[in-house]
Amino acid sequence: MALVLERLESGYGKLKVLFGVSLRVEKNTVTALLGSNGAGKTTTLLTAMGVVKPWAGRVFLDGKDVTDVPPHKKVELGMALVPEGRRLFADMTVEENLLMGAYTKRAREKVLDTLEWVYSLFPRLRERRRQKAGTMSGGEQQMLAIARALMSRPKVLLLDEPSAGLAPKVVADLFDVVKRLKEEVSILLVEQNVAASLEISDYAYVLENGHIVKEGAPQELAQDEYVKKAYLGV
Ligand SMILES: Nc1ncnc2c1ncn2[C@@H]1O[C@H](COP(=O)(O)OP(=O)(O)O)[C@@H](O)[C@H]1O
Ligand SMILES: [Mg+2]
Repeated sequence: MALVLERLESGYGKLKVLFGVSLRVEKNTVTALLGSNGAGKTTTLLTAMGVVKPWAGRVFLDGKDVTDVPPHKKVELGMALVPEGRRLFADMTVEENLLMGAYTKRAREKVLDTLEWVYSLFPRLRERRRQKAGTMSGGEQQMLAIARALMSRPKVLLLDEPSAGLAPKVVADLFDVVKRLKEEVSILLVEQNVAASLEISDYAYVLENGHIVKEGAPQELAQDEYVKKAYLGV
């Protein structure tokens, strides 16, 4: 297993948000964590990274218990988060943004090789490497945010709502890229866009109010009466 979350609990101050979230990301898969606004998806990712401190439960990366490892060390060990809203450096070029992603020791040592690798995955970014990030389209910016995370050479990539704010056609292109990326890295995809996510995932979980309420193969979930009604509008 690339990533295992075991009965994670966490929250903010006195507010409990996660009530024992368990999920598994198999190697070289796209695993989706789906849910509405406020379900606790971002909190799950932040707790997995250790940005939000777990109150209970464990996090395993590649079989190793990393629960108490601080976020920057988790990056060093092979976890990378693409945050909600992308958080690019708008006035810096594409390439400067990418280089910012290679801040771990492990990544710095082979930064030029990694840059080549990332450009081979995203040829568009090579073409645009001297362009300022803030002047690119929403879809290109999301690709850049993903590419920047890949610069740390992760084993597991955590994607927080990459489709947010993008037109359906752009989402389709982006998700094609995400699907292809699983050959390189194991992916936990957090999304409100349930229909599109079920199309590209190998396994999926549904989160509601900090509880996993459903899980299964995407084909099964897409046929599930509850999921259809609550998330697919059919
Ligand atoms: N920094 C924070 N401080 C206090 N409450 C927060 C904070 N971030 C999120 N929350 C609350 O935690 C709950 C889950 O939020 P979040 O994990 O962002 O959900 P999602 O990503 O699924 O939309 C919400 O009720 C939200 O208001
Ligand atoms: Mg969120």
